[in-house]
Amino acid sequence: MWLYLVALVGLWTLLRLIRERKVMSHLQDKHVFITGCDSGFGNLLARQLDRRGMRVLAACLTEKGAEELRNKTSDRLETVILDVTKTESIVAATQWVKERVGNRGLWGLVNNAGISIPSGPNEWMNKEDFAKILDVNLLGVIEVTLSMLPLVRKARGRVVNVSSIMGRVSFSGGGYSISKYGVEAFSDSLRRELSYFGVKVAIVEPGFFRTGVSNSDRHLCSAKMLWDRASSEVKEIYGQKFLASYMTGLKSLDQKCKEDLSLVTDCMEHALTSRHPRTRYSAGWDAKLFFIPVSYLPTFLADAIFYRASLKPDKAL
Ligand SMILES: NC(=O)c1ccc[n+]([C@@H]2O[C@H](COP(=O)([O-])OP(=O)(O)OC[C@H]3O[C@@H](n4cnc5c(N)ncnc54)[C@H](OP(=O)(O)O)[C@@H]3O)[C@@H](O)[C@H]2O)c1
Repeated sequence: MWLYLVALVGLWTLLRLIRERKVMSHLQDKHVFITGCDSGFGNLLARQLDRRGMRVLAACLTEKGAEELRNKTSDRLETVILDVTKTESIVAATQWVKERVGNRGLWGLVNNAGISIPSGPNEWMNKEDFAKILDVNLLGVIEVTLSMLPLVRKARGRVVNVSSIMGRVSFSGGGYSISKYGVEAFSDSLRRELSYFGVKVAIVEPGFFRTGVSNSDRHLCSAKMLWDRASSEVKEIYGQKFLASYMTGLKSLDQKCKEDLSLVTDCMEHALTSRHPRTRYSAGWDAKLFFIPVSYLPTFLADAIFYRASLKPDKAL
């Protein structure tokens, strides 16, 4: 009985692997638009797809980032400046893309741009702190997608949304997890709606990787700002012991992150080039072996795991 079961799972895995290895034809004629290409995953993906011969339309936040990317890539790759929080910037970028893709439409849209600070305990924050992250990570994704959708539909193409394991489990305060849960929800409804038009939507859920988003100095600076601004009541509840351990944890955040960003960009590339992309990709051992399994646990068990691992405020009961 067990042998049959193992053989069945083995056969299913093999068939899935064979199916997923089938690649789209004429990749060199396909345009892919990627947001947040100044650094991190977006930057590596732009270079990776350029090497593969695809037509990369890379959106950068800064001219410096755009110039550095152009210097590292072929003449095929073109850049545009895009701030995903600004409607006029999105409208201009969409027009720029339209002029380049013509009647072919846009094959791939990768919503990658993102920020992670301010982050910290919810009580350290105000509404603007939450809004700052939601503006980039969630509303930015929604507005760019709605703007580019007619071009993607024309190509019967792909939308790839970068979420996070923090869109599956929420274990720290602030807007980041909320924004990524939102990206998951938006992507799920989009995938179902767009299936009627031959458009496929994939979600990428990375674990922790060493990039701008996980940069220790940025997190330390942001935590210091939040603490300095916190009310005397919050300072008393959390206390100096908590603060010291919290800051020490942030200092070593970089070291805990994986360096091989290709684990993530390979998922993005598969979602854009495979005939049969997955709906969800998890990237990194921490995502696959810990965070995603924990997301399926009953709440009381997940809570117990995070409770044991988390710092307690000085005045905790
Ligand atoms: N690194 C991780 O561990 C991790 C894990 C899970 C998910 N992610 C997600 O992966 C995506 C890429 O992040 P990353 O890790 O590669 O970090 P990153 O190196 O900081 O890349 C994010 C890029 O987005 C840009 N950006 C910020 N605000 C923007 C705006 N308003 N409009 C357009 N672009 C903007 C950033 O520019 P500046 O650098 O100039 O701000 C940066 O180039 C993000 O959505 C992030 O949430 C990262």
